Amino acid sequence: MKTIDWEYLAQHMHPREPESDKNTYGRVLAVCGCRDYIGAPFFAAQAAVRTGSGIVTLALPSCIYPILAAKLNEPTFIPLKTDADGKITADCLPPLQRRAAILAGPGLGISEGVTQAVQTIIEQAECPLVLDADGINALAGHIDVVEKAKYPVILTPHSHEFARICDVPSTEHREAMASAFAGKHRCVLLLKGHRTIIADPHGALYQNVHGNPGMAKGGSGDVLSGIILSLLGQGLDPLAAAACGAYIHSRAGDLCANDIGEFGMTPTDMLRYIPRVLKPLN
Ligand code: APR
Ligand code: MG
Repeated sequence: MKTIDWEYLAQHMHPREPESDKNTYGRVLAVCGCRDYIGAPFFAAQAAVRTGSGIVTLALPSCIYPILAAKLNEPTFIPLKTDADGKITADCLPPLQRRAAILAGPGLGISEGVTQAVQTIIEQAECPLVLDADGINALAGHIDVVEKAKYPVILTPHSHEFARICDVPSTEHREAMASAFAGKHRCVLLLKGHRTIIADPHGALYQNVHGNPGMAKGGSGDVLSGIILSLLGQGLDPLAAAACGAYIHSRAGDLCANDIGEFGMTPTDMLRYIPRVLKPLN
């Protein structure tokens, strides 16, 4: 198992070209949120902006659109019709074409409509995909859907989400299970935790040794999925996007903890440290 370090990041991310424009850095789409989870779309979209995406589009339930539109300046928005509970359905998805990468999951909630929406995104996406949180929960019982994707898929479960999609009570042998899962379902699997591990379908296995318990707060994972979305949209291959994403996220967490401490730091604070992690690439 290899350990992700700064050299790995610098091999896969390069200085921004003088002769470039926003299209160079990817038009990415995040499908997130429901009436009861308003923070997740904020964290994911803002993390993608802070990681350098050209255009971030946030597709979200129309009932929470005014709140997010008041909080976020950079993303563009696609308000979606929902069911009576404020959750998205497969009938009301945003256009999936002409995206550099798509994220589906943070804060979507759990319902039959969300399950169908996530399956439709997997089957119809014309670009690489990141599935996180409820985008992963939606796959419990029919994980084989992942194999229908036409483009690479990255799954970013924490250990409970991973146990749920593996249909096992707990995942003790993390490395072996992650590798077996990635190989079987032909995806990149990023298994979060104190030590996050990343496995690809060809047997590559990486670990991230950075990060701290100040990051153990609701919303921290949504920041990670937004970072990975951005990297995929900037053209990194799926393994590199996941591995570099875990590194950037954890280093942002460590810089944040050094400045203000593990107790009071928040995912919102961490967003401001992503640029500092990336600054030496300039
Ligand atoms: N050391 C290092 N990193 C840590 C530590 C720690 N002690 N604790 C947490 N982290 C990192 C993890 O590696 C991961 O990247 O913080 C992130 C936490 O991500 P999630 O477990 O997805 O947490 P969260 O942001 O709360 O998820 C939001 O989505 O996954 C669902 O049910 C979940 O309601 C939750 C929501
Ligand atoms: Mg999460």
